Amino acid sequence: MTEKPTGTPSSDGSVVTPWQVTGAVDYDRLIATFGTTPLTSTLVERVERLTGKKAHHFLRRGIFFSHRDLDQLLDAYENGQRFYLYTGRGPSSEALHLGHLIPFIFTKYLQDAFRVPLVIQLTDDEKFLFSKHDVSSHPLESYIQLGRENSKDIIACGFDRERTFLFADSDYIGWLYPNVVRIQRAVSFSQVRGIFGFQHSDNIGKIAFPAVQAAPAFSSSFPHLFPTKQQIPCLIPCAVDQDPYFRMTRDVAPRLGYRKPALIHSKFFPPLQGAEGKMSASDPNSAIFLSDSAAQIRKKVNKYAFSGGRDTVEEHRLYGGDCARDIAFQYLCFFLEDDDRLEDIREAYSTGRMLSGEIKAELVRCLQPMLADLQARRQAVSNADVEEFMRIRPLIVE
Ligand code: TRP
Repeated sequence: MTEKPTGTPSSDGSVVTPWQVTGAVDYDRLIATFGTTPLTSTLVERVERLTGKKAHHFLRRGIFFSHRDLDQLLDAYENGQRFYLYTGRGPSSEALHLGHLIPFIFTKYLQDAFRVPLVIQLTDDEKFLFSKHDVSSHPLESYIQLGRENSKDIIACGFDRERTFLFADSDYIGWLYPNVVRIQRAVSFSQVRGIFGFQHSDNIGKIAFPAVQAAPAFSSSFPHLFPTKQQIPCLIPCAVDQDPYFRMTRDVAPRLGYRKPALIHSKFFPPLQGAEGKMSASDPNSAIFLSDSAAQIRKKVNKYAFSGGRDTVEEHRLYGGDCARDIAFQYLCFFLEDDDRLEDIREAYSTGRMLSGEIKAELVRCLQPMLADLQARRQAVSNADVEEFMRIRPLIVE
């Protein structure tokens, strides 16, 4: 493997690794350096035809912008070969924030549109191993507990319990282990170091972990879901910073006699302060959490959302606002489903008819009911529901 270790800034100064996203990310450049394929409108139209549904606005608006082998997965689907979906979450904060929601909202759409089974990995082990906190204040148990809390947010996204298996690594590892050791044997230290930039001082758990995130991409890791010996193709929706894990996975697959998983990648959800980096749970003022009240949402948007508006009302009326830099507009692209309404706002704001305070009010009106709805659904998720999603059981596989 010849690629530069992750963590090396590219020439625009941005860094994209599974643990760090900083700077203004150039997504075209990322496609080139990661060696992924742009998600074209032709492919989006093909998804529409195969599912008989209008494509999700994340696809129509280029929020999911890149893929690996999605075309081949769709070829197989068209020939009657069903696939399964695999996504995950590293439990690091009590509540999910808006950025964490993106892959789950999209995965839920894919599950409904293709009517396929889904597995969701909670990497409590990863977050423990990669934690910068002291073990005494942040023991393994605390990550296991965060995983359980996060499960409720995830279930509240509306996944079909008949088609969804949720598992925490600390608990399910025995089932994954045969594939984990096969993968570990097939990857050398210099390969993972090349991909992830590990140092000699890193704990050995970090070095071994990528195999744990790779294993669920192979259907034999779930014998209770897929009792057949036949391999089921896998599609992984994820933010593009997770690609290094799956580059490694795809690299080892043929050596183990397994199919390479297909991937579909999203852009990052920007922090309130502006278009660089990604929303982070460790800075509560940069993030809107699923647990935020209506008043907190209004306050955070009004106080912190970076404005692409002009310095004075006069200038703004004259020159108009900059939608590309305006966080309220950017968030509306993620969450306002109505294309016509979004276009009206874009037009009004960029010509100066709509002011910064007004576009922020639009965003608040969009987010408040969406989060209130999620909170109500989360309230309704019981511990027994979590148990059910995590129970070893067959799923409906048509
Ligand atoms: N490593 C991811 C995180 O920190 C969690 C994860 C595990 C994941 N498996 C995945 C994400 C598959 C996307 C797809 O959040």
